[in-house]
Amino acid sequence: MSGKPALKSDELAVGTAVRVVIDDVEVCIARTEDGAVHAVNDVCTHGEVSLAEGEVSGCSIECWLHGSAFDLTTGEPQSPPAFEPVAVYAAEERDGTIFVDINSTH
Ligand code: FES
Repeated sequence: MSGKPALKSDELAVGTAVRVVIDDVEVCIARTEDGAVHAVNDVCTHGEVSLAEGEVSGCSIECWLHGSAFDLTTGEPQSPPAFEPVAVYAAEERDGTIFVDINSTH
C-alpha cells in the first residue's frame, strides 16, 4: 500500500477516532478494540457532521448526531437514518506511523 503518513500510532488510542485531512479529503481514522486501524470518509452521509467525533463500537463508528453506525470495513450504515455508505480507504500501520491511501480501498 502506498499511502501517506496520516498520524502517529500513539495519537490513536484503542476505541477512539481522529479526523485528519489528506489532500483535501476529510478522513476518520479509527482504532478498534482489537487494535486494528481503519480509515473511512469522515463526513456522515446523513447530516454532514464529523464521524470522528462519534463513538467507536465493535467494528463500527456511530455518528454522534443521529446515531447511525457505519461499518469501518465496508462503510455501510448498519442503522438508520443514514442509508448511503461512506468511502473506505486503505490504512496501514508500520514503524509507529499510520498510513492512509485515499485512492485505494485495499
Ligand atoms: S448526521 Fe449522522 S446520522 Fe444524522
